Amino acid sequence: DWSMAEFKAAKIKEIREQVGDGKVICGLSGGVDSAVAAVLIHEAIGEQLTCVFVDHGLMRMGEADQVVSLFKGHYNIPLVHLDVETLFLNGLKGEADPEKKRKFIGKTFIDVFEIEAKKVGGADFLAQGTLYPDVIESVSFTGGPSVTIKSHHNVGGLPERMNMKLVEPLRELFKDEVRALGRELGLPEIFVGRHPFPGPGLAIRIPGEVTKERCDILRKADAIYLEEIRNAGLYDAIWQAFAVLLPVKTVGVMGDSRTYDNVCGLRAVTSTDGMTADVYPFDASFLTRVSTRIVNEVKGINRVVYDYTSKPPGTIEWE
Ligand code: XMP
Repeated sequence: DWSMAEFKAAKIKEIREQVGDGKVICGLSGGVDSAVAAVLIHEAIGEQLTCVFVDHGLMRMGEADQVVSLFKGHYNIPLVHLDVETLFLNGLKGEADPEKKRKFIGKTFIDVFEIEAKKVGGADFLAQGTLYPDVIESVSFTGGPSVTIKSHHNVGGLPERMNMKLVEPLRELFKDEVRALGRELGLPEIFVGRHPFPGPGLAIRIPGEVTKERCDILRKADAIYLEEIRNAGLYDAIWQAFAVLLPVKTVGVMGDSRTYDNVCGLRAVTSTDGMTADVYPFDASFLTRVSTRIVNEVKGINRVVYDYTSKPPGTIEWE
C-alpha cells in the first residue's frame, strides 16, 4: 500500500526526531496495536527500544505464550516477560466499580513500566499503541456535553503525573489503518487479523469483583466460544467476539441435581472502527451448540445468554 509506505516513512522520521538517542520502553498487550507500534519503533530506533509484556493474569487462555513466542520467533526485539498477576489481582480485590478498575489497571501498568525503565538504565519514553478511537472515547462523546464513556487504560487511565514522555505513533489511526500498517511492516497475517483485545483484559469482562477463580472460569468459556467460531469459519467475519462472566447466579438442573451457578454472556459484533457496532447474527443452532458446550464443560456456569445490543446504545465491552 503506497500511502501506508509513506505514512510509515514519515512516522519513522518523526519517532527518530522525538526520541533522539533516548531509550524507549514499549508495553505489549498481546493486541495488534501495541505490536504494530513496537515493530514500527524498532525500525526507527533499533536497540534503543525495549519491549515489555505485562502479563497481568487477565489474558485469555494461552495468550501470554502465543504473544511471547510470536514476538521472539519473528523479531529480534528484546522482550521482557513480566509475570505480575499477583500485583494486579491483589489490587483489584474487592473493587466492583468499572472506572476504578480501569484506573487502577492504567496506573499499575505505568508503575510497572517505570520500574522497567529504571532497569534499562533510565528510559525517557513510554511507547503505546494508542489509536484515535481510544483518544476520543476517553475524552468525550460527540454530540453532547463532554462526558467520559470509559477510561481506556492507555489514555484516561493514565496517572496525572508520569516521569516518562509518551511515544504514540498510531494516535491518528483507526483499526483498519493499523492493520494495513502492520502488513506494510511485515507482521504475520495471523497476528494482524486478530480480534482486538483491550488492555485491561478480562477485568472488564467480569462485572463486579475480579478474582483468579472467576478469570479461570471465564477463560474456559471464552476459549470454547472462540474455538466454535473458528471451526464455523466465522472468525474473520466478526470484529470481536468474547464471553463475559456475570455476577449473577441462577438456578438450573443437571441430571438429578439442582445447580446454582454463574451466568455467562456471549458477545459478537461487526464494526469498522469500534466506534459503532452491530450485533453479529449467529444462527440459532450455532448459539445452541456453544451454550451446550459451555454449560457441560465449564464448572461454575449453568446458563448462557447472547447479548443482542448494538453500539450505541451499548458499548462493545461490558465495562
Ligand atoms: P467499547 O467497549 O468502548 O470498545 O465499545 C471499543 C473497542 O475498544 C476496545 N477497548 C479498549 N482497548 N484499552 C484498549 O486497548 C482499553 O482500555 C479499552 N477499552 C475498550 C474494545 O475491546 C473494543 O474493541
